[in-house]
Amino acid sequence: MKAARIHGPGKVSYDTVDDPRIEQDRDIILKVTATAICGSDLHIYSGGIPQPRPMVLGHEFMGIVEETGKAVTNLKKGDRVVVPFPVACGGCFFCDHHLPGHCENSNPKNYGPEGGLLTEKGGALFGYTDLYGGYEGGQAEYVRVPYADYGPRHVPDNLSDEQVLFLTDIFPTGYTGIDWGEVKGGESVAIFGAGPVGIMAAKSAWLRGAARVVIIDTLQYRLDKARAAANCETILWKDGAKEVVEQVRDMTEGRGADVCVEAVGFEPDRSVLDRAKAVINLEKGSTKVLEACMSAVRRGGIVSVLGVYPVSYDNFPIGQFFDKGIVLKGGQAPAHKHIDVLLKYVQEGKVKLDDIITHRLPLSEVAHGYKVFKEKEEDCVKVVMTP
Ligand SMILES: NC(=O)c1ccc[n+]([C@@H]2O[C@H](COP(=O)([O-])OP(=O)(O)OC[C@H]3O[C@@H](n4cnc5c(N)ncnc54)[C@H](O)[C@@H]3O)[C@@H](O)[C@H]2O)c1
Ligand SMILES: [Zn+2]
Ligand SMILES: [Zn+2]
Repeated sequence: MKAARIHGPGKVSYDTVDDPRIEQDRDIILKVTATAICGSDLHIYSGGIPQPRPMVLGHEFMGIVEETGKAVTNLKKGDRVVVPFPVACGGCFFCDHHLPGHCENSNPKNYGPEGGLLTEKGGALFGYTDLYGGYEGGQAEYVRVPYADYGPRHVPDNLSDEQVLFLTDIFPTGYTGIDWGEVKGGESVAIFGAGPVGIMAAKSAWLRGAARVVIIDTLQYRLDKARAAANCETILWKDGAKEVVEQVRDMTEGRGADVCVEAVGFEPDRSVLDRAKAVINLEKGSTKVLEACMSAVRRGGIVSVLGVYPVSYDNFPIGQFFDKGIVLKGGQAPAHKHIDVLLKYVQEGKVKLDDIITHRLPLSEVAHGYKVFKEKEEDCVKVVMTP
């Protein structure tokens, strides 16, 4: 079959690879009909999260069931499903506690309680490096889906692929930021990052009754998209964090936002000075956006960290965390936990997801897709590909 594989930083190609096969009784083989590139894929593409051997990428995918393992009774050939991005068994302690990203069974080689740099990671993710399970991903014609009696969800025929594809990851992820923020109605929410995840967080904030939603980005075209797709206020991050934080405080009677959502991660836009500082401190990327969230949140407020941070950093503002009494939550989003209610919102027309798509490409043009999404060319916000 054909699939998109990573061959090192900046190198994604459209390769011929072996067809996936049923390996376990709970597997299915899915014929992929639509797949997207995620900001998380960009961390592998940049080399920020390394993957030594060539691997099929992609954890945002949906399609038609092609073949089922013996133990899968809830799905049959021809069924159309979306698949949440964590690979989760559905029966362990963490799956029972609605924490599929921490599944104890899906990543046996590299799993552990410590959450270390190169060992003792969390549960597996599709197409997301050997450290996270080594499962081949869904930017491919076909993909093996383990624990298929737990993850995949049927989608109604009257909804197109583009209408439901983002139930795999970015919609549940954005929603998780707001859920962790305990938004119940009336709150002010400041979202850092107007990428796909940030925009989905903004849509979710309205669904949960937020009073005010402001989104922050370094790129004006992303802010324009966020305003059009999620009807939020915008702040352009031009010079530095300080003026952004001041603007958020000005909007909230000097206090800061009730909830800040970090939807950028460890690889923000960085100045030469930022880069030099990182080299001196032997650090990878930067925590500057997380720190801005901690400044922009009000005392006793909640910071939800959706953006990926794979390593530790010195100088983390623990003093500010304590003085302000900030509640900090983060990690891989528990997509399984929210997907059913979110699918219902889509069905009922309460939310529209496909309005962030800017690029529709055949999978054969995957290299171009990664380049424009990474370099923010052609006003790219979200790339959807069809195998
Ligand atoms: N926690 C999860 O389960 C989960 C799921 C999906 C994605 N993610 C992560 O969420 C993050 C965002 O993903 P995405 O798909 O939206 O990617 P993206 O790269 O398109 O979005 C990041 C946005 O941040 C903006 N940005 C850069 N520097 C900034 C700054 N200093 N201030 C404000 N904005 C800045 C960029 O211009 C861009 O619009 C990534 O780190 C991704 O890995 C996490
Ligand atoms: Zn993702
Ligand atoms: Zn599990």
